[in-house]
Amino acid sequence: MVDLAKLIRERIRDVDDYPKPGVVFKDITPLLADHVAFAGVVDAIVNHHGRGTIDKIVGIEARGFILAAPVAYHFGAGFVPVRKKGKLPSRTDAETYDLEYGTETIEIHLDALDSGDRVLIVDDVLATGGTARAAADLVRRSGAEVAGLSVLLELSFLHGRDKLRNMDVHSLVTV
Ligand code: PRP
Repeated sequence: MVDLAKLIRERIRDVDDYPKPGVVFKDITPLLADHVAFAGVVDAIVNHHGRGTIDKIVGIEARGFILAAPVAYHFGAGFVPVRKKGKLPSRTDAETYDLEYGTETIEIHLDALDSGDRVLIVDDVLATGGTARAAADLVRRSGAEVAGLSVLLELSFLHGRDKLRNMDVHSLVTV
């Protein structure tokens, strides 16, 4: 029996001073390259929510896509990308949120979700929570319901959950 939390911790690599000095980057590529760890993560997200309960999986660019697509496949749910500004080709709704320095804007296609859809948002990391909250705002403005957020890794010292009250936030590993 695999201890999934232990395996995830072992397969996430800390990279000092990336992308800039003073930042410790959480690199999930060793985890993705390990088929037991990757499959374990996808299965754990699917099992947490239960098949048949979700209509669409919203994945957040870019690393969120890698987890969200196989989760959507295993759920039998559709996949909807939330992308950084200017990357989606058709008509979009946009949400801007604060970063440590500056702002970021993410977008969703206006016709990607149907009113009443139950949506699970999937990303690799929950840090300050700005990205996840903006994605949830986009989902709700589409008339859909946010069933929850699943992430591989939660950086609890950045208090992202404080921005996500009233949401089922599910993280596989917390540091
Ligand atoms: C990272 C991560 C999350 C977000 C979390 O994405 O993949 O989407 O930051 O941060 P927050 O909780 O503070 O908003 P990044 O913007 O680095 O994009 P990438 O996946 O395209 O590298």
